[in-house]
Amino acid sequence: MKIFLDTADPDEIRSAAEANLIDGVTTNPSLLAKVATHREPREILLEICDQVDGPVSAEVVAEDCEEMVEEGRRLSEIHPHIVVKVPLSQDGLRACRTLRNNRIRVNVTLCFSAAQAVLAAKAGATYISPFIGRIDDAGHEGMDVLSEIRRVYDTYHYETEILAASLRHPKHVREAMLIGADCATLPPDVLHKLMKHPLTDSGLRAFLDDWERAGRQL
Ligand code: G3P
Repeated sequence: MKIFLDTADPDEIRSAAEANLIDGVTTNPSLLAKVATHREPREILLEICDQVDGPVSAEVVAEDCEEMVEEGRRLSEIHPHIVVKVPLSQDGLRACRTLRNNRIRVNVTLCFSAAQAVLAAKAGATYISPFIGRIDDAGHEGMDVLSEIRRVYDTYHYETEILAASLRHPKHVREAMLIGADCATLPPDVLHKLMKHPLTDSGLRAFLDDWERAGRQL
């Protein structure tokens, strides 16, 4: 499964990319706004693209199809890694088809149902991003929606990749892996939590204590 980092923070991206832990990055207007207080968004996106050898999703902020296509074209010119993110609205799906006809990769975001995911696939989406945590927030089962999308895409052989998004904790990531999401995008704190296990910590402590007691040198 591909792991993307869900942030626009170049420092977080650099440290994860150094260990080759991530296959790409996803951003959205909220994440970009957090780091673009004193810098041009375009400059930040370029810095991110230079750090990662994989897709970097950058989202349009227009709501009308023609403007989305125009913004999408401009975003895609920033760097070959850019994947244009559009919302799952009627205009967003039309923009998706136009961008795909122009060989620009598209991530259709804000997906909350399998039926929406099918429409995105028909519009030629490269990725579909179901928002698992936000479905849970609304009192439903995000993982049920993810399973349905997996089943429907497999049944009809859609090539769109499922990018599990709005993952809030390691259990979400584990479940997304087991369901067979093609990719999962994780906020940096979730990636950090995935590396941690209390048995790793206690095991390491015991090894080092034994070594110190033995007074040997490597
Ligand atoms: O990848 C989408 C993500 O940024 C949304 O996450 O936690 O704001 O629902 P969240």
